[in-house]
Amino acid sequence: MNKPAKKYDVIVIGELNIDLILDQIESFPEIGKEKLAREMTFALGSSSAIFASNLSSLGASVAFIGKTGKDLLGNFVVQSLQQKKVDTQMITQNEGLTTGATIGLNFREDRAMVTYPGAMEHLTDKDIPLDKLEEAKHLHISSYFFQPGLQQYIGEIFRIAGEKGLTTSFDIQSDPGENWEINLKAILPYVDIFLPNEKELLSITGSKTVEEAIEQLSSDVNILAVKLGNKGSACYHKGTITYQPAFLHDKFIDAIGAGDSFDAGFIYQFLKGASIEQCQIFGNYTGSYSTRSAGGTNAFEDINTFFSYANTITGIQNGPERQVT
Ligand SMILES: Nc1ncnc2c1ncn2[C@@H]1O[C@H](COP(=O)(O)OP(=O)(O)OP(=O)(O)O)[C@@H](O)[C@H]1O
Ligand SMILES: [Mg+2]
Repeated sequence: MNKPAKKYDVIVIGELNIDLILDQIESFPEIGKEKLAREMTFALGSSSAIFASNLSSLGASVAFIGKTGKDLLGNFVVQSLQQKKVDTQMITQNEGLTTGATIGLNFREDRAMVTYPGAMEHLTDKDIPLDKLEEAKHLHISSYFFQPGLQQYIGEIFRIAGEKGLTTSFDIQSDPGENWEINLKAILPYVDIFLPNEKELLSITGSKTVEEAIEQLSSDVNILAVKLGNKGSACYHKGTITYQPAFLHDKFIDAIGAGDSFDAGFIYQFLKGASIEQCQIFGNYTGSYSTRSAGGTNAFEDINTFFSYANTITGIQNGPERQVT
């Protein structure tokens, strides 16, 4: 007998907030002075939500487990995900919690950010309906350091997901406290695809180079995809490191969500059974594509153009007619 089809391709567990991004600022902010920005974007923020939204735009069926306040920004977050067809039934909106925000100040290819975490810090293991995991093929968790209520359970959640037959991915994201304390041995053995960026990888391993860091983690990781900004990415699997260059272009707006978009492109291909090399190339392409529009999700509004362009520049065929499910 055939196994029943899964309800979701991917369940994402993670943090939720909004982004307020100021662009074209006349000069660097200074205490006691007021500067003008010539562009402003108010958008869905948070690594996990941007990943979920973009993966759903690509055609996967995605559900989200998370927490917001029962407030204006929380409603905006939930509605933004719903607009992208992400299933939000497992998001709780709590009275007494405030949905957080990240204020981003863009300067050319980089940015300064201040985050008020709010509700995201209150997501704990008690909020995770573990029995729902079996409704998905894959589990993704992001933003380890922003979720103190969840940190100590993440390894165990991945382990349970693996037992239930799901594949798993983990994007650690930055540590605003710059302590980088994490028990990788309790997490990585249960993660199929680990997706840090270069700075995160070097910081958690205390290494000077990507190669040294990979060497250190090699006994615990399965697939390790390291995001290298405009240098592209490095991918380690079964003893081999493969570098793939970025798809550079002259339409760069900002890099917000480029890493989450890389993750979405990589996991999209992974779920379709593509080779790891194709996952990596498509991740680079998806990351690059996200830098063409302001914010983390805006680039994926017109998904047909995304796919036809993908076909031209990566040679990978991915039309919406070949969706994950
Ligand atoms: N300026 C750029 N031009 C083209 N491609 C880019 C550029 N910046 C990033 N990318 C692509 O996007 C991918 C992910 O970007 P990046 O390395 O900035 O991730 P990240 O630091 O995790 O980002 P995030 O802040 O979203 O978490 C890169 O591996 C690269 O392929
Ligand atoms: Mg990142």
